[in-house]
Amino acid sequence: MTDSTTRYRHDGLNLAYQAEGAGSVLLLVHGFPLNRSMWKRVGGFDGYRTVAPDLRGMGESEASAANYSMAAYADDLLALLDVLGDDRAVLCGLSMGGYIVFEVLRRAPERVAGLILMDTKAAADDEPGRQGRDAMAERVRHDGPAAVVAAMLPKLLDPEVARQQPDLVDLVRRMMEGTPVAGLVGALEAMRDRPDSLALLERVSVPTLVVVGAEDQLTPPAVARIMANGIRGAELEVIPGAGHLPPLERPSRTRAAMGRFLARV
Ligand code: MLT
Repeated sequence: MTDSTTRYRHDGLNLAYQAEGAGSVLLLVHGFPLNRSMWKRVGGFDGYRTVAPDLRGMGESEASAANYSMAAYADDLLALLDVLGDDRAVLCGLSMGGYIVFEVLRRAPERVAGLILMDTKAAADDEPGRQGRDAMAERVRHDGPAAVVAAMLPKLLDPEVARQQPDLVDLVRRMMEGTPVAGLVGALEAMRDRPDSLALLERVSVPTLVVVGAEDQLTPPAVARIMANGIRGAELEVIPGAGHLPPLERPSRTRAAMGRFLARV
């Protein structure tokens, strides 16, 4: 994808995205605490206008002081669809991006033409998980993004990929380090408070692809299978040699899986 930034305003914030190609919209929603550049290696798809936003408080999108929730992120995306002039889009979300995609589905199912759920999960945080979010937010307030880097970076990539591609490790680290404290804390609180989406699965009636890295430590294949089994007709693609970030670790395999699915939607 190209790097050129386009901006729109929503909820008083200056929000960034990039778009390329022509056709139906494919919205690529990045994970925590990354930005839209995580989709760069995947490229565009024939017949699609590929649109990759930076979530509020990440990448080049302004951070609000407050108002972080799955609802706020989802409304930012729905406002972006309005700006693009599109009623419907195929939504692709990785990890936290998937939590937001579930929220869009809950709020505006008529705007969802298809789903790609990548290295994400439908279940909400359990109590220890919620406490973990609070502890991490506290560390981020004291130590900044370094706290998230220390806790998450070792778990994001397949160890073999990390060993072979030190540049990729650096790229991911830089994305994390570039995220402002307000965006990090806001996202941690939004993930802590996100609703459970398990009951939503059986209501999904659009074509769905579930993708997961075979070596994902954060949302392993067993978790992906729960989503794929819960959604009528969903397909599951397990990407060998990838951890939590297949679009960066195995871009060709990920692109091929996405392309096969998108050609059918
Ligand atoms: C992500 O990759 O977006 C996060 O790991 C999601 C999470 O912490 O639940």
